[in-house]
Amino acid sequence: MVKKLIVLSLFIGLLSCEQKKHHNLLTELNDSPSWTNLHNGVWKSIVNTPQEYNLLNTSGALPREEALSKIKGSDFPLEKSEIKAFSKNGKTYVRLPLEDGERIFGLGLNFKTVEQRGRIMRLHMDHYGGEDNGRTHAPTPFFVSTNGYGLLINSAKYIDVYMGTGVTKDSKNPDVSRDRNTDKKWTPQPKSDNIELVIPDEGVELVLFAGKNIQETVQRFNLYCGGGFIPPKWGLGFWQRTPTLYGEKEVQEEVNGFVNNNFPIDVVGLEPGWHSKSYPCTFEWDNTRFPNPKIFVEDMKNQGIHLNSWINPYVSPSSSIYEKIKPFTATHTVWTGIVPDFLVPEAHEIMTQQFEKNVVSVGVSGLKIDEVDGFDRWLWPDYAQFPSGLDGETMRSIYGTLTQKWSADLYRKQNTRTYGLVRAGNVGSVSLPYVLYNDYYKHEDFITALINSSFAGVLWTPEVRSSGSPEDWIRRMQSVCFSPMAMINAWADGTKPWSYPEVYEYCQDVAFLRMQLLPYIYTTFSDYYFKGTPPFRAMAMEEGFTHIPELIEQGDLNSTENPYVAALKKEIKDQYMMGESILVAPMFAGQKTRTVVLPKGKWYDFYTGKLVGDGGIITANHGLDKIPLYVKEGAIIPMMKPIRNTSEWGNNTTLEVRVYGNTPNEFILYDDDGESYDYEKGAYSQKILKTVKNNGKLKGTIADLKSESNWSYGALQWNFMSK
Ligand code: GAL
Repeated sequence: MVKKLIVLSLFIGLLSCEQKKHHNLLTELNDSPSWTNLHNGVWKSIVNTPQEYNLLNTSGALPREEALSKIKGSDFPLEKSEIKAFSKNGKTYVRLPLEDGERIFGLGLNFKTVEQRGRIMRLHMDHYGGEDNGRTHAPTPFFVSTNGYGLLINSAKYIDVYMGTGVTKDSKNPDVSRDRNTDKKWTPQPKSDNIELVIPDEGVELVLFAGKNIQETVQRFNLYCGGGFIPPKWGLGFWQRTPTLYGEKEVQEEVNGFVNNNFPIDVVGLEPGWHSKSYPCTFEWDNTRFPNPKIFVEDMKNQGIHLNSWINPYVSPSSSIYEKIKPFTATHTVWTGIVPDFLVPEAHEIMTQQFEKNVVSVGVSGLKIDEVDGFDRWLWPDYAQFPSGLDGETMRSIYGTLTQKWSADLYRKQNTRTYGLVRAGNVGSVSLPYVLYNDYYKHEDFITALINSSFAGVLWTPEVRSSGSPEDWIRRMQSVCFSPMAMINAWADGTKPWSYPEVYEYCQDVAFLRMQLLPYIYTTFSDYYFKGTPPFRAMAMEEGFTHIPELIEQGDLNSTENPYVAALKKEIKDQYMMGESILVAPMFAGQKTRTVVLPKGKWYDFYTGKLVGDGGIITANHGLDKIPLYVKEGAIIPMMKPIRNTSEWGNNTTLEVRVYGNTPNEFILYDDDGESYDYEKGAYSQKILKTVKNNGKLKGTIADLKSESNWSYGALQWNFMSK
């Protein structure tokens, strides 16, 4: 009997132990993190104990509090109890609710998809390998939902995302169970009503942003992570990167070619051959190709040309700083080069001195920072160690940002703006003056990347290299002229704008059109700085694009079967907005026509001012001579004469102000000195360009708003495009 009792109590003990285990698990899954309100519409939660280094604190980016406070407050956008988080066995799990019809954008610089619902990814800094699996040049752990919020997972670890794929037993909104034997509607992926994240760390910092629409949510995210920036004016002109082994003589000939062929040029990019050795690099001039760097750079400046120099940050044994910097580098090398740990002050300082001596004081205006995204086989492994105490995984996530910050500061110290290229960015690099690029080269996918860059807090250039046909060449040239950096990267092929004579005239047209639009583009960038609005952005940020149910209710759209509604419901990955008013719909080689989905309201052809549609879907059939561009009702677009170099921007330049449609409106035109950081201290000017109705007709007016800096423009001609 006693024996029986002991066995029974042991059994009960075991049972309660089991029950306790289950109980614990349930409690963990039911944990809801607590949130602290930081700014209007911004909340933070620290779940358990995350590692010390995260994406934001390593970047040095600080929230732009004043700008954030200007966006009207919002309530906490989700039911707090529906957000769950817990940590276990070195991992932290986060779950958020996902509603039927909710749409998700973001999760880094993807090249093939814009909408992310239903996807599983591991966000991992890497070169882009042809698949949207999370490995990319900006694997930004941020997403934005049509449900009025965005979430930043501020962790520098590789994060697993299950974006509406996991189905839980206690789902509030479960799918119906179907019999595969007989029911054709059976699906291997039943509906999921949650977003699940796994962070390989003991805790995580989450930042939640509210927004009345996607754009506002993204603005808050950008401002919280440091806000955007305004490039130097020269950075918005045309860029030509020269072949690897070009020296002083060849670069001068290249510039002469641009002058003789009448093509805009502002920047020449020097590729690896400026170093005495590259891969790994010396950061010292090769004196056979560049016998007199200082004189050469000055000569270029006198011709209005800024220089940009390519580097990878891996230090060659032949560099004069090798021995000095060695103690402050990683356990592993890249191509035998040692890897500076920019978080260690000594390494930071040695690199700073080397670049001040050989780059900044020589007059070079900026850098192209290559290979900081990494190929697994070349880069340091995840288990590498850095003297700052970071592991290889954490360092890989932030290295692009660290190198951007270090190099931007070389110029900031002198109160000079820079604008450069980099192959890796992440949360915390939004305020750093760099544009991302890569070696992948699919035109269509480059446009999708440009769209996604607007959710990732980075800028992207669909750079042009060489092309299979004149048609491909001109279509790519058109796209790149409507991007943050208009650039030919001829490092390998030596292509020039005139390499395809059949379409050269059209290349000139689009490059000069970009130059004409610089007053508009520059103002667009000022919104990036002041308001956090991405200058080149997804259609989803246009009001009315993702709020279909409301539109249907308002009677703007009469049926869910309407092809326009169907188009609005699909992801849009081949058209985007440049600034407030211009819709860009690039065409690709082989296309004779393409469809364009217009946001609600009236839209006009940029070139002719003719009405093309009122919402709806239209067909563009622009020949090779033009990239389809459409302008919003009421838009005011300031332009200037077609200059070849931004040194001609200023000196009372005449403004042509184009007006589209017939609705009164205003546009705040921005200007500053174009090269210093004084704009951050208020040294800028703004004028209000305003259209008012006068006897049923629009009339243009201009008024001062602020004049704290030089003003580039003189006479003003209003051009009412829609007669
Ligand atoms: C690649 C880079 C190219 C070019 C080349 C020079 O890694 O993506 O744009 O700079 O290096 O070797």
